Amino acid sequence: MSIVNYQLSIVANGMSNPIGIFDSGLGGISVWQALYDALPHESLIYLGDGARCPYGSRSSEEVRQFTEEAVERLLAEGCKLIVLACNTATAVAIKGLREKYPDVPFVGLEPAVKPAALTTKSGVIGVLATERSLQGDHFRRNEEKYGSEVKILKGVGEGFVEAVERNEEHMPETEVLVRKAVEPLVEGGADKIVLGCTHYPFLRDVIARVAGDGVEIIDSSEAVARRVGVLLDEYGLRAEESAMPEYRFLTFADEEYAERLREKAFNR
Ligand code: DGL
Repeated sequence: MSIVNYQLSIVANGMSNPIGIFDSGLGGISVWQALYDALPHESLIYLGDGARCPYGSRSSEEVRQFTEEAVERLLAEGCKLIVLACNTATAVAIKGLREKYPDVPFVGLEPAVKPAALTTKSGVIGVLATERSLQGDHFRRNEEKYGSEVKILKGVGEGFVEAVERNEEHMPETEVLVRKAVEPLVEGGADKIVLGCTHYPFLRDVIARVAGDGVEIIDSSEAVARRVGVLLDEYGLRAEESAMPEYRFLTFADEEYAERLREKAFNR
């Protein structure tokens, strides 16, 4: 969709247009839920790729291309604001998207290093994310900024995304994977663990159990919902309180996957 068409559609419909939310799969539903709770009058269109998930170990070029396809689709649906509910896609693609669509407000996800670094008592924080996110500029900048004040331990949640995609959050095999990633962070002294991938909040109970009582688990979804609220006001795009919100779930996979997205969103 051309930017002119985007602008025309926003002018025609404006505030009642939906917010678009994108992730490689089911993970961004953790962000969808925060938006649903915080912005009850907003219509939401969630696009979970599903066909090419996981993105975390793919090349930057692939992630960029898939993210651009997804954003084009959401803009064609008339979305007034786009949330990249995927740390991996944000790390690789948000800069280029902001340049390509300068009039579209974008909100991205990045590991919440700052709140963890500012509140740690042990002076050690753990960051769990995909390989691609940990290599991205956003994370590296945060690492440089806060790494001199606190020790930042990094861990890739190997197999976490796949476990969530298979709805296997509560399986013993998943706990084994979680132990492998989380125990080194706790043994290294971390008292805060940042969930730097939107799939990981679905494993929060297991992560918290493995990490133990003294460790706080930090997830960015609520902060993202607050940021979206601020941008809606700045751009004059907040839905009327009388609006009847609609919730749609799109995918590049099949109908069954779209149904799974809906179930994940509403079955809490
Ligand atoms: N949920 C995504 C993230 O926040 C992507 C996970 C993946 O597809 O590897 O990074």
